[in-house]
Amino acid sequence: MAIKAVLRMGEPCLLTKASPVEQFDTEALHQLIQDLEDTMQHMNGAGIAAPQIGVSLRVVIFGQKEPTDANPRYPNADTVPYTVLINPELTFIGDNVENGWEGCLSVPGMRGIVPRHLRLHYAGLDQYGNKFDRLVSGFHARVVQHECDHLDGVLYPMRIINLKDFGYSDVFFPNQDFQDD
Ligand code: NI
Repeated sequence: MAIKAVLRMGEPCLLTKASPVEQFDTEALHQLIQDLEDTMQHMNGAGIAAPQIGVSLRVVIFGQKEPTDANPRYPNADTVPYTVLINPELTFIGDNVENGWEGCLSVPGMRGIVPRHLRLHYAGLDQYGNKFDRLVSGFHARVVQHECDHLDGVLYPMRIINLKDFGYSDVFFPNQDFQDD
């Protein structure tokens, strides 16, 4: 169990294009996945990307292992299955874009409204090198876009259209009990 410090906006690692993983099923990769999982669970994140803990590799994890556990940060969101996604490739389906609130462990205490493609196909590999792909929509598609943006050095505030839609979580949502982020 290793909970890592999450880098916050301003760190160069968060603004850097991450490198593809070339070797799978290695001790180092399994350790990285475990660290990401421990850190995500500790922070109640919907997902986390390797650059957020200072590792510039194209690795993200997201979702929940227990389907009944609603994420306290996104209590009304659809449940997303726990997923390890490495070297992802996203293909947007159609032109539909949906606005939705997002937060990020690297931008603690803030929320913003971000437009995301409603539907997409994603493909990639798990930590053992098994290829898989999915067709998803809604919150699942949003989480994938947010996490994969981290691999290209993009943080969600960069995608906010109107900065009036960006602010402190406890100001926008005074009755909701957000965690640290
Ligand atoms: Ni994030």
